[in-house]
Amino acid sequence: MNPAETPIALGADHAGVALKDSLRAALEAAGHPVRDFGTHGDGSVDYPDFAHQVARAVTAGEAVFGVLVCGTGIGMAIAANRHPEVRAVVVHSTTEARLTRAHNDANIACFGARTTGPEVVLDSLSAFLTTPYEGGRHARRVSKINPSPAAQEA
Ligand code: RB5
Repeated sequence: MNPAETPIALGADHAGVALKDSLRAALEAAGHPVRDFGTHGDGSVDYPDFAHQVARAVTAGEAVFGVLVCGTGIGMAIAANRHPEVRAVVVHSTTEARLTRAHNDANIACFGARTTGPEVVLDSLSAFLTTPYEGGRHARRVSKINPSPAAQEA
């Protein structure tokens, strides 16, 4: 699949909605099919409601990647990471975006609208979407992220 055609699931709370809407416009302009789970206004909402919807879409394969925005990105990441197939990461830089794709096979990028400037977010998202997972030695480590019986965790 052309990276520019990769389906993306988006979600935000009231603190992240403006940044989420600007990311949606940039993603659509780049050719990505986008599923926007909201929120769609500035009324106060609860970030886990959106994190879970995006996490379910990624888990189901309806989207290859998810993007979540709240005040810090932290609450979104905590909630999304309760889904076993999700690896959600709070990203503050292009370096983090590149390395978490290459090494962790991260599939949801979380951003903080109150902590990270919009240009850094846009550049970081671009790096996140275009950096391939390296696999190899990282695959063994990623396979150990979800807890397994103690006997297998030597
Ligand atoms: C909402 O005020 C704020 O708590 C939320 O956007 C987020 O930062 C939580 O992690």
